[in-house]
Amino acid sequence: MGHYTMPLADNPFTMAVEAVQALKAQNIKHIIVDMHAEASSEKQALFHMLKNDVSAILGTHTHVGTDDLQVQEGCCFVTDVGLTGCRDGVIGMGKEVPMQRLLTGIGGHFDVPDTCKALLQMVVFELDEEGRCVGAEKIKIYDDKPKIVTSAWME
Ligand SMILES: [Fe+2]
Repeated sequence: MGHYTMPLADNPFTMAVEAVQALKAQNIKHIIVDMHAEASSEKQALFHMLKNDVSAILGTHTHVGTDDLQVQEGCCFVTDVGLTGCRDGVIGMGKEVPMQRLLTGIGGHFDVPDTCKALLQMVVFELDEEGRCVGAEKIKIYDDKPKIVTSAWME
């Protein structure tokens, strides 16, 4: 979990480097990191810290899928995978409660309305026997439109 706007946690960068080294010491080659953070800069920095040692680093938390899928040094990276939920809401949920909270300071329970336009975002990647990523796709599936696929190959 990142630092920016997130609850206080141990240093995610030193902890991630230590955890990856511990896994590699056990000869584990297929390592996937979920970087749960608000700041794209933290996710990108972690990518450069770990890209030689892990198979994939997938950013999450913002619910806003980013268009920066890439494969470097055998590591798949995207700043944010995106969401499964309403594409016409706020972070995949209905928009009424978030708007009410911003206007009045009074919150409520976030729900997914039955009538929302659906969106499913994902990243699919292929790893070799050594755990290196050789290709990846970022896929957006809509309930009423053609899907959109973005591809990335090893640079
Ligand atoms: Fe989150």
